[in-house]
Amino acid sequence: MKTKIQQINDEIDSIQLNSLEEVEQFRIKLLGKKGSITSLLSDFREVPVEQKKEIGQLINLLKNKAIDFIESSKTNFRSSGSSEYIDLSLQHEINEFGTRHPISLIKNELFSIFHKLGFVLSEGPEIEDDWHVFSALNFPEEHPARDMQDTFFIEKHPDILLRTHTSSVQVRSMENDKLPIRVICPGRVFRNEAISARAHCIFHQIEGLYIDKGVSFADLKQTLLFFSRELFGPETNIRLRPSFFPFTEPSAEMDVSCKLCGGKGCAVCKHTGWLEILGCGMVDPSVLELNNIDSKVYSGFAFGIGLERLAMLKYGVKDLRLYFENDVRFLNIFRNYL
Ligand code: DAH
Repeated sequence: MKTKIQQINDEIDSIQLNSLEEVEQFRIKLLGKKGSITSLLSDFREVPVEQKKEIGQLINLLKNKAIDFIESSKTNFRSSGSSEYIDLSLQHEINEFGTRHPISLIKNELFSIFHKLGFVLSEGPEIEDDWHVFSALNFPEEHPARDMQDTFFIEKHPDILLRTHTSSVQVRSMENDKLPIRVICPGRVFRNEAISARAHCIFHQIEGLYIDKGVSFADLKQTLLFFSRELFGPETNIRLRPSFFPFTEPSAEMDVSCKLCGGKGCAVCKHTGWLEILGCGMVDPSVLELNNIDSKVYSGFAFGIGLERLAMLKYGVKDLRLYFENDVRFLNIFRNYL
C-alpha cells in the first residue's frame, strides 16, 4: 500500500501537463471512479487495523495534494489564455485611431511633390521681428500690411510681431543657407482679421524659394505647372496673371483650371473655369541685395501657397472654420486619406 502511495506521489511530482485537456485526463486517472487514489480508498478496507491510522493519513495527504495540483494547473492554463476559456460573447475593444488633419495631408503631399524637384524643408519662428517679415522683403515703411489692422504686434519699437506670411522664412534662409537655395517653408501665419467661412486670423502657408545662377521665369512657370499637375491631375492647366508683391518683380498670381468642371465654368470657380491658388514671382533684386546676395550673379523665384484654400479645393471643404474646430465628425471624413 505504502509503495502504491509513494508511486502516485512521484507521478504527481514528475508529470508534465500541456493543456487543460491533459489536466482533466490526469484528474480522472487519479480521482475518477476508477482512479488510482479512489481505488486506494476502497483498498483501505483491507488495511490491518494497527496500520489504518498511518495509511489513512498518507492517503488523505495524497488526495489533498492531487486536488491542489489539479486546481492550480487548471488556473495556470486559464490565466495563460488557453483557447478553451476565451469568452466569445465579450465585446472586442474598439480602437479608434486618429486621422490626419486635412492641412497635414495637403502639406505632406506638397512636401513630396517639391521633394522630387530637389526642394528641402526650412522652418522659421512664428514670432518674428519687423526686419524678417517686412523690411528685408522690401516693404516700404508706409505699406498697409504693416498696419495694426493686419498684424498682431507683440511689442512696438523695436517691432516684435506674429508673422503675417511665411515669406519671412525666405529671409532666414538667405541669412543662414549656402547658395544655391532651394527650400519650401511651411508654417502658421497670423493676421488680424474677423473670422468667417472665408477668412481666419490663423492659417497656414507654404513658401517656396529658389536662388541660383541663371534662374528664370520659365523655371518658375515649369515648377508650378509640374506641382499643379502632380496635385490636381495631369490634365490640369495653369495661368499666370500679373500682380504685385513688394518682394517679387515681376509678380504674378497663379490659377489652376477648375477640376470640378474641367474649365467649363461652375459655382466653385464662379463660372470662370479657373481657381486662384498662389502668389509668385522673381525675387526682386533689391531683396537679394538687402540679404547680401549679389543680384548681378544670382536670380531666383519665390511663391507662396495658402494651405487652407488648397485643401478646400482638393477636399471640397466649404468653411475655413472647420479646420480649427477639431470636430471629429469633420476629421473622420479624412480617415481614408494617407
Ligand atoms: N507672402 C504672400 C502673401 O502672404 C504670398 C506670396 C506671394 C509669397 C508671392 C511669395 C511670392 O513668395 O513670391 O500673400
